[in-house]
Amino acid sequence: MATNRTFTMIKPDAFSAGNSGAILKMIEEAGFKIVAMKATQLTPAIAGKFYEVHSERPFYADLCAYMSSGPIIAAILEKDNAVEDFRKLIGATNPADAAEGTIRKIFAKSIEANAVHGSDSDENAAIEGAFYFSQIERVG
Ligand code: CMP
Repeated sequence: MATNRTFTMIKPDAFSAGNSGAILKMIEEAGFKIVAMKATQLTPAIAGKFYEVHSERPFYADLCAYMSSGPIIAAILEKDNAVEDFRKLIGATNPADAAEGTIRKIFAKSIEANAVHGSDSDENAAIEGAFYFSQIERVG
């Protein structure tokens, strides 16, 4: 059964462009409740740990460098069917393939600088949320 939480990051391209507020507004208007949130900047090593599942991919080194290139916002979001509904809201990984009206279609610059991250499964949502937030930092 689907759980009701997912995890997101607003990536350096969207943060530095001043789009964090507009993206968070879209997220809240789509019915997601923010359960935990923080602005931070990753080191390349921490970005590498977060994206370890992609360590064999040709884009891994660039992805780690990119994700540590500037501040990000990390958040845990709550809604029924959170993982699937959030992936619909953000659109395809490559903004060229993202549907009209999705966050990536509106804000992403490229497949790497694609504005936001969204967990791809309930299991990864729990792992990724725990990567950033301890129990006492969460609402509920
Ligand atoms: P994200 O949803 O954060 O998960 C992994 C990230 O790797 C993805 O978004 C993209 O930013 C990046 N990524 C995936 N595929 C490619 C690719 N072919 N080239 C460059 N970056 C990619």
